[in-house]
Amino acid sequence: MRYFLALFALAVLGVIGVLGFRGDTSRQSPRMAEFYPDMLTQPKLRPQTTTKFAGFADGASSRLFPAGTVAQTVGFRDNTTYKDDPYNTGKVGTGTNFVEVNPVPVTAELVRRGQDRFNIYCQPCHGAQADAVGGIVKKLGATTVANLQDARIVKMPDGEIFNTISNGKNTMMPYAGNVPVADRWAIVAYVRALQLSRLGAKDDVPAPVLEKLK
Ligand code: HEC
Repeated sequence: MRYFLALFALAVLGVIGVLGFRGDTSRQSPRMAEFYPDMLTQPKLRPQTTTKFAGFADGASSRLFPAGTVAQTVGFRDNTTYKDDPYNTGKVGTGTNFVEVNPVPVTAELVRRGQDRFNIYCQPCHGAQADAVGGIVKKLGATTVANLQDARIVKMPDGEIFNTISNGKNTMMPYAGNVPVADRWAIVAYVRALQLSRLGAKDDVPAPVLEKLK
């Protein structure tokens, strides 16, 4: 009986020893790694800790994002998530309706910034007047470039133009990776200014400016 109890106790310990710790997380590599020790001792950096690696003068293991990186997961304003904010998506809430009006107050400064960015990113295809004339890409044979002076696009909500810049449309590539959110709204404002320059009536011109034009 004594032997039985001793054996039984050993068996219990054995079973607990082998099966009792299954599912526990461990920072140790699996046993196999010891046959291939390069897996156990690989030279790698854990994120967001310190490092003695001489290449990094600030001693942090993670590098900072390159300047101009566009965040995709956290909003720029109010700390909302990226997708909840019409500023980031051009859409109302998480729905599919586009915001009618540019959420950024339109100032002369914004339009100038939009002009600057438009002439870099859009003009090569859509032309300086956005009427699909004169863009080098069009001259080289891209025949489907949209005319942004078209009544259809004049009537389009601001958010939809923003969305086309962000995600592209049919044969137009997305520009979210090149043009930060704030600049996309500036471009939308400038496209509206270009459209207005064709659609405006004499009464839209302030009197002193009209005087000069005469
Ligand atoms: C490489 C050429 C190219 C560049 C650069 C380009 N586009 Fe386009 N864009 C196109 C083409 C082509 C279409 C027509 C797509 C289609 O419907 O087939 C188009 C269509 C559009 C439309 C109409 C979308 C619709 O709903 O029909 C808008 C608005 C627009 N572009 C705005 C812009 C703005 C703003 C920029 C600058 C950020 C820009 N595009 C840069 C080629 C370009």
